[in-house]
Amino acid sequence: MEKVTVSKLWKMKAAGEKIAMVTAYDYPTAMLVERAGLEIILVGDSVGMVVLGYDNPVPVTVEDIIHHTKAVVRGAKAPLVVADMPFMSYHVSREQAVTNAARLIQEGGADAVKLEGGKEVAPTVKALVDVGIPVMAHIGLMPQRASVGGSFKVQGRNADTAAAIVEDAVALGNAGAFSVVLEFVTAEAAEVITKRVEMPTIGIGSGPMCDGQVLVLHDLLGVYDEAPPFARPYADLNGVITNALAEYREDVRSAKYPGEKYTVHMEGAEAKKLKKKRG
Ligand code: KIV
Repeated sequence: MEKVTVSKLWKMKAAGEKIAMVTAYDYPTAMLVERAGLEIILVGDSVGMVVLGYDNPVPVTVEDIIHHTKAVVRGAKAPLVVADMPFMSYHVSREQAVTNAARLIQEGGADAVKLEGGKEVAPTVKALVDVGIPVMAHIGLMPQRASVGGSFKVQGRNADTAAAIVEDAVALGNAGAFSVVLEFVTAEAAEVITKRVEMPTIGIGSGPMCDGQVLVLHDLLGVYDEAPPFARPYADLNGVITNALAEYREDVRSAKYPGEKYTVHMEGAEAKKLKKKRG
């Protein structure tokens, strides 16, 4: 598969081809995402919850994202790799935003960054785009904000709130964002945004009209007992892994593993010599 570029994603939107994006945080899963042919890998700050065991994304640092992005980039060459800008890594000043985004690109090896926020972050998006950093925007439900006193409810239920999200999308597009994630937005609002903006919209819990879809890898693979209502589990890794580990434990206890199949022997003559040496 050829390297996915921003221009390829725009062509896909124009041609009505859907874009598939998923999160990944390490080398082996990035390798598998590439093998499956998905266009975009997001090194999301969801790493905080699904890999590091935090309650929310707030404690995730720029160093965390750099560390995981490096592993992902080693595992996948073709997909566009987007690194998430963590909580408060782009809010203090434009300089802070550019410095941190540059680290994700330069040290992490990401192709682009993603940041949460509506029209109020449009000047930050423009500052990043002006220095040549491709930016994916993220509106609707914003987990960083929802975690500090916000709400995890569906966004854009009525005409006024939906119109505000449309306004955000337009402002971010005008600021130069190359794509926008619409998280847990009503399907009607997502459809209006998708038709209104030139950049591809990537939905998560936002209905079928978006130009693409994104899921958190661990939700898609069914790693945890619980997942958001909009996340379809395509596998039951929880069951597969737990059963494999339990079977291994039983085999070790009963000495069924390793058995002959997984055991390496010396040549008979050498084994005899060894026994003699030991007396
Ligand atoms: O961090 C993340 O995984 C995300 C997705 C939910 C889009 O931002």
